Amino acid sequence: MTEAKLIDGKAAAATLQRRVGDGVAGLIGRGGPTPGLATVLVGADPASQVYVRSKARLAAELGMASFDFRLDEAIAEAELLAVIDELNGDERVHGILVQLPLPAHIDTTQILMAIDPAKDVDGFHPFNVGRLGTVAPRAPLDFPVPCTPLGVSMLLQDTLGKLAGCNAVVIGRSNLVGRPVAQLLLRADCTVTIAHSRTRDLAALGRTADILVVAIGRPELVRGDWIKPGATVIDVGINRVPAADGKTRLVGDVAFDEAVKVAGHVTPVPGGVGPMTVACLMFNTLQEARRASGLKFSAAD
Ligand code: GUN
Repeated sequence: MTEAKLIDGKAAAATLQRRVGDGVAGLIGRGGPTPGLATVLVGADPASQVYVRSKARLAAELGMASFDFRLDEAIAEAELLAVIDELNGDERVHGILVQLPLPAHIDTTQILMAIDPAKDVDGFHPFNVGRLGTVAPRAPLDFPVPCTPLGVSMLLQDTLGKLAGCNAVVIGRSNLVGRPVAQLLLRADCTVTIAHSRTRDLAALGRTADILVVAIGRPELVRGDWIKPGATVIDVGINRVPAADGKTRLVGDVAFDEAVKVAGHVTPVPGGVGPMTVACLMFNTLQEARRASGLKFSAAD
């Protein structure tokens, strides 16, 4: 039996990062602004600290300005809103990323709604969510789109070319991943089904999918016999589980060793979708800086 081809997210992210780095230099070369990304981290969650640090480091590597805000876990909502207000008004800042999850005493929706939609490089503001939900098939995405879903759609387009007519099943209905992935696949002319923890017979539904995107946060939930032979499987899950040697290891939401025997293409974990997320954040920041500049850019730029 031939094994599935691996979708190399690391290589795709490196290519996108080069494109963004060239774009930053090109924008500055045309007299435009240096793209600026502000990251806001509330509290000291170790995983969030790692993510935020890697975002700030990559922004600097690509020639962008990076503004880092580390705020106390106990910060009042009004104080956090004041920080966002200041960043909204700061013309050196083209992208604002407030790392989620926020502490329980803060109303996440209020915070996301306070971000200027033109600086919402996460694409989580309800205005941008609405734009993604109403975009016409194949119409340009001239607004920020959530980074992980954008990365998923780029990997699928790189792997398959045109997606029109494909049956796509998205397992997971989160605002961060499942729903926006489904919207992007619909825009790309797929026939989309969104499945979730209450779906009846997920396995049978999975077997109907030409494209199976899994973002449900359950380690190795999707088994080999849930997958249609030759399908393209995108595993968005990142789960830390106990390993045989007493340490831990990262696994996705798909049982990789089984999937690789059935699928046509599959993303590994780690090294699949993960690297694309941060590369897409840089891409979104560049795009917002370009729009703020008032200069014209072609789709190929
Ligand atoms: N936490 C986990 N994923 C994300 C993301 O894509 N953006 C933000 N802001 N926080 C996150």
